[in-house]
Amino acid sequence: MSVLIKGGLIVTSTESYKADLLIEGEKITTIGTNLTCQADEVVDARGKYILPGAIDPHTHLCMPFMGTYAQDDYKSGTIAAACGGVTTIVDFQIQHKGESILQGLERKKALATGNVVVDYSLHPAITDPRPEVIEEVKAAIQDYGTPSFKIFMVYDFRVDDGVMVQLLEQTKKYGGLVQVHAENPFIIQHMNEVLAAEGKLDPYYHAVSRPNIAEEEAIARAAKLVEFTDSRLYVVHLSSREGLEKIKEFRKRGIEIYAETCPQYLLLDEERYKEPDFNGAKYVMSPPLRTKESNEALWSGLSSGDVQVLSTDHCPFDFKGKKDMFGKDDYKKIPNGAPGIETLMTLLHSEGVVKGRLSLERMVDVLSTSTAKMFGLKDKGAIAVGKDADIVVFDPEQKFTISQSKLHMNVDYNPYEGVEIAGMPHQVFSRGLKVAEWRKDQVVFVGEVGRGKFIKRAPFV
Ligand code: URP
Ligand code: ZN
Ligand code: ZN
Repeated sequence: MSVLIKGGLIVTSTESYKADLLIEGEKITTIGTNLTCQADEVVDARGKYILPGAIDPHTHLCMPFMGTYAQDDYKSGTIAAACGGVTTIVDFQIQHKGESILQGLERKKALATGNVVVDYSLHPAITDPRPEVIEEVKAAIQDYGTPSFKIFMVYDFRVDDGVMVQLLEQTKKYGGLVQVHAENPFIIQHMNEVLAAEGKLDPYYHAVSRPNIAEEEAIARAAKLVEFTDSRLYVVHLSSREGLEKIKEFRKRGIEIYAETCPQYLLLDEERYKEPDFNGAKYVMSPPLRTKESNEALWSGLSSGDVQVLSTDHCPFDFKGKKDMFGKDDYKKIPNGAPGIETLMTLLHSEGVVKGRLSLERMVDVLSTSTAKMFGLKDKGAIAVGKDADIVVFDPEQKFTISQSKLHMNVDYNPYEGVEIAGMPHQVFSRGLKVAEWRKDQVVFVGEVGRGKFIKRAPFV
């Protein structure tokens, strides 16, 4: 199968230029002007952007959490991804007690096989750091194709600083990357007790219980351990101005520390927790939403390069029956997480590029090119000859009002319901196959369930 995409504006992380592009099979084989080659399908892309498919390196599909499950499975989650222009995901495989890394990977792959519609990889999350598991990090990097490892500094399944040191050393030795959920659990525990004693248990107090300093302290401590081991670190879902300032401070001193943020930390703030009728629960996630000051600091970090990646932390739970039931008497019991995978690209374009907060090229970098480099996705993340034909033909003029009824994520609400969007995916290709396209008033899935494959990733360079 071949596809000729004609007359679009090709956008890379460094430049934009008008050209035609030929897909043959699963690859981009030619880029040039006035291409006349024969193709099975010709796409008229005049007025459209030709973007590399986005890579979402932070998703939680089918994840058991807080007494329930993150609701998107590999089929619904990756259909939503495809419809939003996300053509690769890196999902978390949270280790079960007693499991090896390999057993955990096989458990998650069994859920994905036959269901994924775009390509995927996995990050092992280490929660049971037995000596043999620390040893296995080498095999995970060199043999399993999973060179990034998540650790949590909070939650019941957190690891301590000693384990962090061991993992930083192992990953440094073999070419891996430690990713950290950075919050200080003791500050949060203290705040929980203070707030409980005062009877403050509404969703708003979720934010009060996890102050910016809890993130700042955890980042500073983790960064010190990176300095001690002369290793490297990636901070997931960075949410606060103070956390970003710490990262900048350490980077200035030559400490290798990277960060991602997510659309919710750019666009939403803690006022959301005050929405009536318990609606604030929709935004309960960790770290929590912050203030507009942090939103602005993160926009500027994303634009300047201090933040290298935009991910979603996609982890949806229904409002009705989950968020509003589990936690109705206590914010601590509200399942933490929110949907986001399908709106990643369009929100960044509409709220970021259109509003002048970052350039189109920078958008491509934080959604695709830099993400591919960070996580060893060698065939992904750029519009270039030889790369996988993971391509979004993006219509910058297409208007859309965000409504969960027109999206594919398996959840009963959307945090951006009613937001007017400028720019939507027009057609989405995953390894050369069209998987989604705009029809009438929404993007629809047109791909093949089960065609996505597990991608072995290269070590960190
Ligand atoms: O609230 C969140 N972020 N839920 C997903 C788990 C995590 O901490 O990333
Ligand atoms: Zn987290
Ligand atoms: Zn997460």
